[in-house]
Amino acid sequence: MHRIGFIGLGLMGQPMSRRLLDAGHSLTVWNRTADKAKGLLAAGAAWGASALAVAQASDIVFTMVTDSAASEEVICGRGGVLEGSRPGLILVDMSSIAPEISRSIAARAQAKGVSMLDAPVTGAPRLAAEGKLGIMVGGPRETFAACRPLFERLGAKIVYAGGSGMGTTLKLVNNLILGVAIEAAAEALVLATKAGLDPQAVIEITSVGGARTGAMETRGPRMVRRDFTPHFSASNMYKDLSTALRLAEECGVSLPAASISREILRAAKSQGKGDQDSCVVMTVLEAMANTIVKLRD
Ligand SMILES: NC(=O)c1ccc[n+]([C@@H]2O[C@H](COP(=O)([O-])OP(=O)(O)OC[C@H]3O[C@@H](n4cnc5c(N)ncnc54)[C@H](OP(=O)(O)O)[C@@H]3O)[C@@H](O)[C@H]2O)c1
Repeated sequence: MHRIGFIGLGLMGQPMSRRLLDAGHSLTVWNRTADKAKGLLAAGAAWGASALAVAQASDIVFTMVTDSAASEEVICGRGGVLEGSRPGLILVDMSSIAPEISRSIAARAQAKGVSMLDAPVTGAPRLAAEGKLGIMVGGPRETFAACRPLFERLGAKIVYAGGSGMGTTLKLVNNLILGVAIEAAAEALVLATKAGLDPQAVIEITSVGGARTGAMETRGPRMVRRDFTPHFSASNMYKDLSTALRLAEECGVSLPAASISREILRAAKSQGKGDQDSCVVMTVLEAMANTIVKLRD
């Protein structure tokens, strides 16, 4: 059993750290907003006073925070993981961040004798609770091998993508598909409504055949119920598509569909909907079409 540290107890971090605790590992946690640790502490986790304190108490530290700035802050900032680290510590950053920031953090970790993996995930909080995430890993192979049993506790599909930054690169590619697919599903529901169809018919027919997508399967029923409770926020999807577009710029690749999807997400954010689920983009399209998607009685 390992001494595990977990930093970032948001929608994903809470169920993920809980699975590690329930597997019998000793777990020390820290979250900027302390309240979110309540359930884990009640279940037997210890509270670290800071990210630094978590690192001091652990052999392997996981971080699961919003974006590049947050990862840099909790790992490299004052009172961060690297200040509390010692040579031999393993750091696994599971946040979805920019690949160049993963590589930069990994280099700073390495200078302190800390081996780092970038290991972002795919799958919603429910899949996190069930240990069925997809996990994309970049970094040293031997560190990956050492962490594999822990990844198997968290995920059903684990893909080693290559050296440092390749896990976060694969994550951008994955979310490019997801962001565009959610936008396409929302467009289909808006068009169907305006054309006189029951949107339920769209959900049913696209459950078979070539138009089948996970986006419609998981988000379609929530969109037609107008349930935008966040599973994966519009702000986080905007962040991922923006990072993918920056990578595309560097690589000289055009991403026309991703660009448009990002613009609709930007509009959702401007309308104050950033904290809602990313499928809230449907409401932006509804306003453009002057219609409201709703199920027939
Ligand atoms: N939700 C999903 O379905 C999903 C799926 C795959 C990947 N992801 C990725 O997983 C990561 C976490 O997502 P989430 O859905 O769990 O987001 P979330 O619920 O918004 O949680 C974000 C976490 O980051 C912490 N945080 C943000 N900025 C910070 C800072 N400057 N310093 C310290 N802590 C900071 C937050 O602390 P507070 O509690 O104090 O705000 C919170 O613990 C993101 O990179 C996201 O893109 C999410």
